[in-house]
This record gives sequence, structure tokens and C-alpha cells, in this order.
Amino acid sequence: MRVSFNVNGEDVTADNVWPGESLLYVLRERLGLPGSKNACEQGECGSCTVYFDGVTACSCMIAAGQAEGREVRTVESLAEGSGKGGDRALGTVQEAFVEAGAVQCGFCTPGLLVQTDDLLERTVGAGGQAPGDAEIREALAGNLCRCTGYEKIIDAVHLAAARRAEAAGSSS
Ligand code: FES
Ligand code: FES
Repeated sequence: MRVSFNVNGEDVTADNVWPGESLLYVLRERLGLPGSKNACEQGECGSCTVYFDGVTACSCMIAAGQAEGREVRTVESLAEGSGKGGDRALGTVQEAFVEAGAVQCGFCTPGLLVQTDDLLERTVGAGGQAPGDAEIREALAGNLCRCTGYEKIIDAVHLAAARRAEAAGSSS
């Protein structure tokens, strides 16, 4: 079957999609967007998290056909600048994860980045308070990491929140 939808602001079409394929598979294998990771393919780990019509979801649990006409945003959209090339700069959340040492093997990182971006959009991005530890842990509860012990991840979210609040303050 043919599936057409919008990814990161671009209209795309994937042909010869098998009805059992997941959105994650189509993104990675057919559309050249390998940022979203396949770690469990069972909706358990959060590594494949994307925005699906503006709401975070595990792309391994979405049938490709369900994406028809929908809007998908992947971790690739969090980088600054346009295009797919290496000339794009890291976005605020990505930079914070690197600086805080929250990336080890990196398998969980794309999902954590998308989920963190969503949390910050709903808090500091909406003119609210920076999230506290409990709110961060709750927001990231569906994202499993086998390497970091989570402390560095929490630090990274605090750092990203502070930077996003600072940027919002200086632009208002
Ligand atoms: S790969 Fe989708 S939740 Fe683990
Ligand atoms: S950094 Fe390895 S699973 Fe999180």
C-alpha cells in the first residue's frame, strides 16, 4: 500500500508498505530517518518516541497505515536549521544532554529528547515554571535507560529548561 503523511514539515510518500509495518520501520527504513531507535518494538522502552499529531507516542506501536494524512515529528526535527545534512546545529535539549553527560550508549536518547522537548513545551515553553524532579521523572517514566542511572538525564532536563526559559526571557 501507499502511505502519505507529513514528517518534520515535509510531505512524504512511502510505497509498497506492508500492512504490518510500523511507523518506526517506515521512518527508519523507507524515509531515511534513523534517529528514532528500535530497542524493544513492544511499546515498552520509549526509544522510538515521536510526535504524532502533536502528541508523543511510541512509533513502533503505530501501524504505518495509521499515519496516512497525519503529522509526524521525529527527533531529527529538534536540531536547529533546515535540511538533513550534518551542517545543522544541535538544539537546546540535545546540547543539554551532551553537556550534562546524559548520553552513554545513546540508544534511549532520541526518545528522551522528544519527551523532554514535549515537557518543556508544556512548562517553560508555555510561560510556566521549570519542571521539578518529580515532574521530570513522571514525564520520562516511559523512557527506559540501561546506562546512566537517570541522574544525568534529570540534570540535562534541568539544564535545558533553564536555557529555554532564558531564551524565552531574552526574546520577550
Ligand atoms: S522500540 Fe518502541 S517502545 Fe521500545
Ligand atoms: S544511554 Fe544507553 S540506554 Fe540510555
